[in-house]
Amino acid sequence: MKRVLSGIRSTGQLHLGNYFGALKNFVTMQHDAECFFFIADYHSLTTHPDPTRLHGNVKQILSEYLAAGIDPQVATIYIQSDVPQVAELSLLLSMHAYVGELERTASFKDKVRKNPENVNAGLLTYPVLMAADILLHRADYVPVGKDQEQHLELTRRFARRFNQIYGVDYFPESVPYNFGRELVKIPGLDGTGKMGKSEGNGIFLSDSDEVIRKKVMKAVTDSGPTEPNSPFSEPVANIFTIMDAVSEPSTVAYFKEKYASCEIRYGELKKQLAEDIIRTVAPIRERIEAISSNDKYLHEVVTDGAAKARRSADRTLADVREIMGIHPF
Ligand code: TRP
Repeated sequence: MKRVLSGIRSTGQLHLGNYFGALKNFVTMQHDAECFFFIADYHSLTTHPDPTRLHGNVKQILSEYLAAGIDPQVATIYIQSDVPQVAELSLLLSMHAYVGELERTASFKDKVRKNPENVNAGLLTYPVLMAADILLHRADYVPVGKDQEQHLELTRRFARRFNQIYGVDYFPESVPYNFGRELVKIPGLDGTGKMGKSEGNGIFLSDSDEVIRKKVMKAVTDSGPTEPNSPFSEPVANIFTIMDAVSEPSTVAYFKEKYASCEIRYGELKKQLAEDIIRTVAPIRERIEAISSNDKYLHEVVTDGAAKARRSADRTLADVREIMGIHPF
């Protein structure tokens, strides 16, 4: 069976974009492949989060994954720092990662530009640790967004290089995975761009009904179509994209017709959109609340997940040490 690994940094809460872009597909995928889902808390340390909030962030995402339907009986779900074997693999891989290629990584250059006062070594070796995450389980597929493709490219390069240097056929060339179809990209509510956590344009899975209504009613639109069958402006196209994800096809068709005949009332459109978003989010939010207040359950899930992930990690490390010449006495 193919192995799939997905990682998410433990910063902030998940939004509708995460849900429709990835999470919802993970829930289906977990039955078709051997899936590893992990929360990258080591990675999040590169930007120095408040230590008093790190654990809470990890717990939030864990609860959200479980609430969305990731089943710990089916998939392996774990916290990166519970499997410190990844740090050893990262160290071993770093021996064949060249400083020059790491410095040329777009995400690193971006961080250097934005935070010149915090150019730490962890940021430079971020792609090595990410490669270690992936190669630790010799994952065939990695579902990632566009912004992570370069990191995955580096992972493949490190894998190829390792195989070549040691004359083995050990690491697979992990490829991006898009669930066999075009990914749904959920735009933000502020008129342009995709939904994100930093932009303040998103609906979070833990938002209350009231908060969702407020956010949707404030969504950017335009002054309305002036002639029949005119194309959508970007903000209105975005609203319809979200509606496509959450509303009944007949509802979407109804509002598109209203738009085409210049009879659309954005207030009515937004009211409907808010209710349809609530229909998706409210049950998930309720499960998030129940799960995140059940520390015993969460403890069981991560303990079990870590044990499964460590078994897989130990196998890989035993092989890699052997291949690199570290033999037991
Ligand atoms: N870098 C990824 C992100 O920022 C998170 C991540 C860390 C990851 N390790 C990974 C994703 C391994 C996929 C596989 O989104």
